[in-house]
Amino acid sequence: MAQQRGFIVEIEGKVAIVTGAASGIGRATAIALAAEGASVVVADVDAAGGAVTVGEITGADGAATFVACDVTSPESVRNLFAEAEAAYGGVDIVYNNAGISSGEPHWPDAPLARIAEETHINTSGVMMGTREAIHAMRKRGGGVIVNTASVAGDGHLPFDPMYSATKKAVMSFTQSCAPLAESENIRVNAVSPGMVRTAFQGKTGDGERPASWLAPSIERHADSILPPEAIAEAVLDFIRDDSKAGEVRTVAPA
Ligand SMILES: NC(=O)c1ccc[n+]([C@@H]2O[C@H](COP(=O)([O-])OP(=O)(O)OC[C@H]3O[C@@H](n4cnc5c(N)ncnc54)[C@H](O)[C@@H]3O)[C@@H](O)[C@H]2O)c1
Repeated sequence: MAQQRGFIVEIEGKVAIVTGAASGIGRATAIALAAEGASVVVADVDAAGGAVTVGEITGADGAATFVACDVTSPESVRNLFAEAEAAYGGVDIVYNNAGISSGEPHWPDAPLARIAEETHINTSGVMMGTREAIHAMRKRGGGVIVNTASVAGDGHLPFDPMYSATKKAVMSFTQSCAPLAESENIRVNAVSPGMVRTAFQGKTGDGERPASWLAPSIERHADSILPPEAIAEAVLDFIRDDSKAGEVRTVAPA
């Protein structure tokens, strides 16, 4: 029987930050959190997409506000938490979800700058978001952080090994944060999705169609691509289940 630690469990009345919430998995999770009664800070570099997410939430009588945030910028991440505290009085839940994959040309001809870009967004962004979250949650006596990894982090992505490595790092980072549950009353877990139906794949190509290296894989997995709501549900499960800390959960069809 899992020990009840008394962290979050109840989502209603809590304050949640979701990065990458202007689209896809982040948007679905922001909407799901708001539907459960959380006040949601929609964080993204994409203001237009962020406004759509906020509109969907407030249109359903939920509470949400958009804060422009680039997860690679320490100032921007600090500002995000300051804005969240100013709007809603504190932070209880953080979902570090913003992420990108590579386009053309693929590895090993990808430009060198792409190594830094993917690493900064997918990995440093998660680390900085977690650090700021811990500082904010200390003021509340605890909280829950969920990060987005990927099954690509299991090591089978020859055309974008940079992406694979960034997601492996998210897994290891999350697992290493497990003791925070005891020391800070803060649980850190990660979802590791398989392929999900979002704009993500198209962004590797011309914005609509995926890069040539990814298209065959999408075709192969056409029957098993998950809706973003499936990942949102797994994120909410982690938030509710106070026995979970330092876990990475694969969310993919068997
Ligand atoms: N779609 C998939 O098949 C899949 C599978 C496994 C993991 N993932 C991961 O899920 C997460 C969400 O992806 P998605 O599928 O919803 O993609 P998406 O492209 O629909 O959404 C990603 C969001 O992140 C935002 N973003 C990008 N760079 C940012 C930055 N520097 N600062 C703040 N926001 C930034 C984008 O503007 C976008 O709104 C990513 O971490 C991705 O790696 C996706």
